[in-house]
Amino acid sequence: MQDYTNKVVAITGAANGLGKELARRFAGAGAKLALADIDAANLTALQQELASKGADVVVAVFDVRSPTAMEDFARQAFATYGAVDLFFNNAGVIAVGTIWEQPLADWDWLLDVNVKGVLHGIKAFVPKMIAQDTACRIINTASIAGLLTVENSPAYVASKFASLSMTEVLDLQLQAAGTKVTAHVICPAVVQTDLDNCLRHRDPATYDADDPYYQTEDYLRRFEVVTKSMPAGLPVDAAVETIITEMENGTFYILTHPAYNPAITGRTAAIVAGTRPTLVAR
Ligand SMILES: NC(=O)c1ccc[n+]([C@@H]2O[C@H](COP(=O)([O-])OP(=O)(O)OC[C@H]3O[C@@H](n4cnc5c(N)ncnc54)[C@H](O)[C@@H]3O)[C@@H](O)[C@H]2O)c1
Repeated sequence: MQDYTNKVVAITGAANGLGKELARRFAGAGAKLALADIDAANLTALQQELASKGADVVVAVFDVRSPTAMEDFARQAFATYGAVDLFFNNAGVIAVGTIWEQPLADWDWLLDVNVKGVLHGIKAFVPKMIAQDTACRIINTASIAGLLTVENSPAYVASKFASLSMTEVLDLQLQAAGTKVTAHVICPAVVQTDLDNCLRHRDPATYDADDPYYQTEDYLRRFEVVTKSMPAGLPVDAAVETIITEMENGTFYILTHPAYNPAITGRTAAIVAGTRPTLVAR
């Protein structure tokens, strides 16, 4: 890992999982941090942990669904440190279901957090990063589910295809405008984080927790697929090691699970051949 002394790193979804490990790595490499999350308790604990080791850390507790709160976070980061060298647009959530049965509220939640939350980060940070006129990076966390379709979680797949394609267009537009900002997209498969436990921070106003669908065999079976897969995922420190190495190499599509590469090329071949998506047994 490079030396980040006097560099500034901003991260959303910093209180747990990939965001937390990124924060720890960059603090250890000398960076100043601006960290955001909806989870006040874990974010404050991380701030205390990193500050006790000598890192400069400011935090903001908000929901990335709010564009004004994201603007405030960007303003706070630039006002505190004067620049942002790396912005990890990382907060995200998952929901499962059968597409014709899953409550619409789940789609609203995933599209609001995973797509519009990322868009809010782009709109808040990118103009300021362009204006600072230094080489800097915006790194959006999508998923392997932004490159490959899986049958279990339609709204998650749709949201991650959207955030991945949004990042491609962002990078094209950053190039076309002649800026010094580069975009990157992180596409992990399963990593051992708290993602399967994301309902804990869901705004109760965004859904009816008593919707009978959440008690169906279909929903419970699909949810179990996610919870059972998590412990077998890549350890978070290994995923973040790859993410940082690839980002430093300038890689645009940051893939953490090479075992899926044949499926990615297979998908492209299937598109050209016009064949049906392949159902993988669970
Ligand atoms: N863990 C995996 O297997 C995996 C695989 C592919 C992609 N991802 C993506 O990685 C990113 C990070 O997730 P993770 O796996 O570290 O999960 P995680 O749940 O451990 O961490 C996500 C963090 O985002 C925060 N968050 C959730 N909703 C928020 C909101 N509306 N506003 C602000 N903060 C919010 C959570 O409080 C949490 O701290 C997500 O975008 C996720 O979709 C994860």
